[in-house]
Amino acid sequence: MRTVKSVREYQDCRDDINKGSTGFIPTMGALHRGHQSLIEASIRDCDVTVVSIYVNPTQFNNADDLDNYPDTLEQDISLLKSMGVDYLFLPSYEDIYPDKYRYMIEEGEFSRQLCGSHREGHFTGVMTIVMKLLNIIRPSAAYFGEKDFQQFQLIREMVEAFFMDVRIVPCPTIRETDGLALSSRNLNLDAGSRKKASLIHELILSETTDVQINGQLTQAGFDVDYVETHGGRRYAAATIGNDNKQVRLIDNVAIGG
Ligand code: PAF
Repeated sequence: MRTVKSVREYQDCRDDINKGSTGFIPTMGALHRGHQSLIEASIRDCDVTVVSIYVNPTQFNNADDLDNYPDTLEQDISLLKSMGVDYLFLPSYEDIYPDKYRYMIEEGEFSRQLCGSHREGHFTGVMTIVMKLLNIIRPSAAYFGEKDFQQFQLIREMVEAFFMDVRIVPCPTIRETDGLALSSRNLNLDAGSRKKASLIHELILSETTDVQINGQLTQAGFDVDYVETHGGRRYAAATIGNDNKQVRLIDNVAIGG
């Protein structure tokens, strides 16, 4: 695996990399089985697989969340090598934001709902970094997990809106045996919160109403941002934890056939 640390270096070797089909998996590191499933899909579909690790500050609306974001770079690199990834793109803030985030991608509707209505500017940060990464890597396909379904939808629509020549491929959510959706943030759950965390998935699958589920999660000790159903999919976001560490969890499931 070759590690490329600057935009210029990547652009210099891009024509060689993109001779055949290139699959791209953007990540913020702390890789888990969910990321592995995206990488496996790319290795299966494409000639070359590129992974980026970049903890993108512009998508964090909360400084504590950014400070506490898990960093497991050494382990991540070993995993990527063992999986047969061809390139790791590992840029710096200065490289990615030479404009100091003066230019951004803004969407005026769906990005303001669900997570967007609780995390100001989050999706503007996500769409901006994904646009930048897609422009640098120029892959044939990019892979996104359905755990972040709103993110996946916004990126798919952004690519369509800007006539970008890349296939956006959704991959199913990978879960622990008790149903908890895999997420890098799960590493920050204390033992008590980890036990309760699977309740989100259990409840959003149940036949009760969004309002009732919100009440049940609140009663169990979650601070609930939303439980909402849109277009045959139920979405939830809630925070759990102790005074030291709070972890925000999101999940979604297709409902009603
Ligand atoms: O889903 C993530 O990990 C991030 O939002 C992404 C797509 C890598 C952009 O920073």
